[in-house]
Order: sequence, then C-alpha cells, then structure tokens
Amino acid sequence: LPPLRIGVAGLGNVGATLVRILQKDGAELTKKLGRQLVVTAVAARSRSRDRGIDITNLDWFDDPVALAKSEGIDLFVELIGGEDGPAFAAVKAALEIGRPVVTANKALLAKHGLTLARMAEESGAQLGFEAAVAGGIPVIKTLREGLGSARIAKVFGIMNGTCNYILTRMGNEDISFADCLKDAQALGYAEADPTFDVEGFDTAHKLSILATLCFGYEIAPDKIRVEGISRITQHDIKVAADLGYKIKLLGIAQRTDDGIEQRVHPTFVPKGSAIAGVDGVMNAVALETDHVHELLLAGPGAGGPPTASSVLSDILDIARGTRVPPLGVPSHELMPYREAPMRAH
Ligand code: HSE
Repeated sequence: LPPLRIGVAGLGNVGATLVRILQKDGAELTKKLGRQLVVTAVAARSRSRDRGIDITNLDWFDDPVALAKSEGIDLFVELIGGEDGPAFAAVKAALEIGRPVVTANKALLAKHGLTLARMAEESGAQLGFEAAVAGGIPVIKTLREGLGSARIAKVFGIMNGTCNYILTRMGNEDISFADCLKDAQALGYAEADPTFDVEGFDTAHKLSILATLCFGYEIAPDKIRVEGISRITQHDIKVAADLGYKIKLLGIAQRTDDGIEQRVHPTFVPKGSAIAGVDGVMNAVALETDHVHELLLAGPGAGGPPTASSVLSDILDIARGTRVPPLGVPSHELMPYREAPMRAH
C-alpha cells in the first residue's frame, strides 16, 4: 500500500503530541500496519511557536480549509476545536471530496454530527472521533463496533477530566476551586474556554454523542439539563463525605418508555462504588445492557498523550480500511429524538 499522508490542523496540546508520536513511532507503526503513516502537512495559527516538534519539513497552511482540500494528503485530522468556524468548514471540505477525517472535536460533533455523518456516508469518507469522548478510553469503538447488538438501557459516567481533577483535589486537600482549575489548565486538561468544562457543557457534548450511539436517536445536546460544578464548595464535599458519598459530575442518559432522558449534574455517589473510585483526570463510562448488565470503561479522560492515542487509533483503523457508519447505524436509520417528560430525581 502507498504511504498514508496525514494533514493535521491545530497544533495545540493534542495536535503537537500526535505529530510527535507519529514522528517518533512511525517505523514501529509502519511495521504493525504494513503501511507507512506520515504527517506531510500542518495548519495552525502560528508557524514559529515552539511546540517541541520539528515542522520545518512539512507543508505549511495558514488556512485549515485549504489543507483539508489539499492534494498532498489522504487523511485530514481536525484538532482546532470550536463548534463552528474553521473546524466545521475544514471538516466539511474534506468530507465533501470523500477524504477521511479524524477529529477530537466534541462540540462540533454535538452540534453538527448528523450533518457530518450524512456527508461522510454520501461521499464514502470515514469519520473517526474516538478522541472526542473520554480521552484515551476506546468507548466510541466499543459502542460502534462491539456492543452494537446489545440493547443499552442506560449510559452514565464521568466525562470531563478537568472537573474530576478539581473535585478530587478539593476532596483531598484544602485548596480552592480556582487554584485547582489553574492547575488543570497548566496540565493541558481544560478547554481553551474552561467554562465549557466547569459549567458542564463539555460533558453534555460528550453525553449527547454517546446517547446517539447507545440508543440510535439523533444527537440532541440542547435537550440536556445541565448543571456544572462551579458552585461546589469544600463544605459541600465535606458534607457528602460525612454522609458516605463523593461528589462527581455525571452525565446520565437513559431510555424510558416515554423517550430519552439526558442530564448532567454534580451527583452524590456512594464511596466504595466503582464510579467513586475514579479519581483525578480519569474518566469512566458505565453502560447498562440486557446481555452484559453493567460494564465500566475507565481510563485517562484528558491530556495530550491519551487523547492523541485515541486519534491515532482512528488513523490506524482508516489506514487498515475499516468501514463503519460514523454514528453506529446509517444516519437515515436514526430515530428522531424523543424527549422523556421531566421527572423528579
Ligand atoms: N477539557 C476536556 C476534559 C478535555 O477536561 O475532559 C477532554 O475532552
């Protein structure tokens, strides 16, 4: 097979880590695949910023759309972020010409996932987004390919590494919310605008994507009741601990007879439960299904290396020629979203 030429748009934490891994482990990956993977082109805001990677020999694009359409690549990786703007324009431009796309952009998928899936199906392009939900945990692959036959009744979990890191540290030390958030930003966990993390929107984006893969309904991020963790204090965490609980920010989606229910909010979870043991930047996704009953997938939820590794697993799948509908089933088979009436919890 000819080498797979990769174009990467966005050289932030995840993008730079991905380029570093491909440059460093290229030979090993080639052996594994029988095909060479090579980054040939990049697009970012600044060409000169020091990212600890050598991009001098790569084709440079100021405009990610021009990169997405360039003749010099076979696969487009979008790591720009943002639900509209250049990320959306570039992903569309690549899919339109049948070029495979890998993205880590949960905000983009929550808002435009259905449109993009349709475009990919029409042009025959693959669309990978393993890195968009729960960082390094292979949850998209599990749902899309592994559990497709199971009937899933409920999906819930910790889907934001920044919030879990903050809540964990506030539970262990006498430290303020603001200081924890600063550290999460310095560690490369938080979104460019951390409001998305701490107000629960990032969790809602991820939950809406998971719910679609679990239940076969169209993506509906706007139907989620969202409450974040910005008002949680040390006092709340202590009260929870005295009662035998930890506070976790959970995303929860379940199938009911009346439709789908989706919510994101800080939740008391019993100490000693599996989900309570998931601390720090770790994420966990729990699935309740008819065949395997309860399944918990846990692992690092944010940060450069775990997220880049999920991007890479999509790249490997595409290089191997794996073909799957982006949203698990062909998009015309997705049911219109049916919202369950609000209940008391
Ligand atoms: N800001 C996100 C988080 C990054 O903290 O989980 C991973 O999606």
